[in-house]
Amino acid sequence: MQTHSVPAVALSTAPAAQGSGELLIVPVFEQDDLRDLDGLDQATGGDVSRAIASGEFRGKLYELFLTPAGRNGWRAKRVALVGAGPRGDFTTEHLRRTATAAALAARQRRIASISLVGRAHDRIDAPHAAQALAEGIVLANFNGGSYKTGDEPRVWIDSAELIFPGGDKSLERAIERGRVLGECSNVARELANEPSNALTPRIFADRAADLAKAAGLTVEILDETKIGQLGMGLLLGVAQGSLEPPRVIVLKHEPKGAPPSPVLGLIGKGITFDTGGISIKPAENMDRMKDDMAGGAAVLGATIAAARLNAPVRIVSVIPSTENMPSGTATKPGDILKSAEGKTVEVLNTDAEGRLILGDGLWYARQLGATHLVDVATLTGACIVALGKSTNGLFGNHDGWRDAVLRASERAGDRSWPMPTYPDYFEQLKSEIADFTNTGGRPAGAITAALFIKEFAGNLPWAHLDIAGTAWADETKPYQPKGATGVAVRTLAELALDAESWRHLR
Ligand code: BES
Ligand code: MN
Ligand code: ZN
Repeated sequence: MQTHSVPAVALSTAPAAQGSGELLIVPVFEQDDLRDLDGLDQATGGDVSRAIASGEFRGKLYELFLTPAGRNGWRAKRVALVGAGPRGDFTTEHLRRTATAAALAARQRRIASISLVGRAHDRIDAPHAAQALAEGIVLANFNGGSYKTGDEPRVWIDSAELIFPGGDKSLERAIERGRVLGECSNVARELANEPSNALTPRIFADRAADLAKAAGLTVEILDETKIGQLGMGLLLGVAQGSLEPPRVIVLKHEPKGAPPSPVLGLIGKGITFDTGGISIKPAENMDRMKDDMAGGAAVLGATIAAARLNAPVRIVSVIPSTENMPSGTATKPGDILKSAEGKTVEVLNTDAEGRLILGDGLWYARQLGATHLVDVATLTGACIVALGKSTNGLFGNHDGWRDAVLRASERAGDRSWPMPTYPDYFEQLKSEIADFTNTGGRPAGAITAALFIKEFAGNLPWAHLDIAGTAWADETKPYQPKGATGVAVRTLAELALDAESWRHLR
C-alpha cells in the first residue's frame, strides 16, 4: 500500500486569476481586506464577500470555505478560502499547516490539481513562504499505512501550482527544497508507522539502505558479528533478549569539494519495539512502542534530504537498531554492560534502553570522524510530562551548538525548547559498582537521560532532541492525521543546509 506521493509543484508568477488548478486555495487572515486579490469576489459571483459579511467564514486558523468560481475570467472552477488566523500572529509554521489543511480538504473532495496563492506578509519573505507552502502540500499527500483488505484507492494531489504574482524565478529553488523536505518527512512517517513485525531491525536496515543508496549516499549496515567485533556492549546488552539480531545503519554524505571538517554526526534511536525488557511496560498502550525508532527514521529522512539538496557539509549518520524484549537471555536489572568506549554501566532499569544504544552510537559517530553531534530519540516519558506533545526537549553541552539546532528547529516548524544540563543532575546516576547507572529515578528524568548520553559525546559539541512527545500524534488535527509526525527530519536537514552558520563552532 502506497503511503505517500510527491506532486509536481510549479511556480506561477502570473496573477491569481490565471491559476490553472481545479481548486484555487487562498489563505485568508482574520479581518482580511483581500485587496491584493482584485476580482476574486466577482469570480465567485459575490460568494466570498457574502460569506465574510455573514460570518460564515471568519479567517479562523484552518477554517475552510469552498465555493464555485470561474466567472470574471478566472480559470479555476472552484475557490477554497482557508483561515490563516490573525495576521499579527502568523508564522511560517502556520502557513505550512494552512497549506496542509487545504490540500487535505482538496484530496477529500477527490481534487488532484490545486493552485495556492502566496499572500504577502511583512514577516515572511517569498522564498520562505514558497518553501513552507510546498512542504505543507507534500505533507498532505500522506496516508497512514493500511493493512485493511479492500481499501479504496487513494486520491493524491498530483500537481500543485504556487502563485506569487510578479515573483522571482529563484523561488523555484525554495519550492524544490520544500518538496524534498516534505517527501523525506513522509518517508520517516511511513517507517515510524510500521508495526514491529513489518519493521524489524533487519528490515529497517534493508529499507534504509535502499532509500539511502537511491539518494546517492554511501551505506554500510553493521550486523551482529561486526557490532560484537566493535565491542558495542550497550547495544548488544539491549539486543540480547530478542530473537531478532541488531543492526547499525551507517550513512555518509560526502559532497564534492566540501572541506574535511566539519563533519555533522547524526545519531537516531532505532528501537523497532520497546517492551521495556525485563522491566516490562504495562499492557495499556504498549502497541505505541512500535514507533520507538522515530528518531532513527528522522535521521534517515534528514540525511536523504541533505544528499538530495546537496547540503554543503559532510555528514555521518548512525542509527543503532534493535528490539527491547524480555526473555531468558535478556539483560536483567543490576547487570553490568561495557560500552564500546570502555565505560561500564549498571542497568537498573532495562526500559531505559534508548540511552544505552545511543551511547554506543555516539561513540561510533566519533570513530567515523564526526566533529559536531546531534542525537534524536523518543527517549523519556518524563519529557512528555515536562513539555507535552507539541515541543521537543533540547539539551546540549555547548550553548552555541544547541542554539544552532534551536534555530534550525524554528525554521523547520519543529518546536523545541532548551532544557538545563547542570552537572549536579549527574549525581542521580551514581553507581556502587559501575561507572554510572542507566537511570536516575523520577525527578528530572529527561535531563538525567540526556546527561547519560552526554557521557559518550567525548569533548565534541553535542545536542540532543527528546521527541518522545512529538513523534506521534494521538489525535487527528486539520494538518496532521493520527500517527507518526516526521518530527525532526526538517530540523536536521535545515541544520545541514545551514552549515555555514555553525562550521566555525568548536
Ligand atoms: N521509549 C521510551 C520512552 C517513551 C515513553 C516514548 C512514552 C514515547 C512515549 C523509553 O525507552 C522509556 O521506556 N523510557 C523510560 C525511562 C525510565 C525507565 C528511566 C520512561 O520514560 O519511563
Ligand atoms: Mn524503554
Ligand atoms: Zn524506548
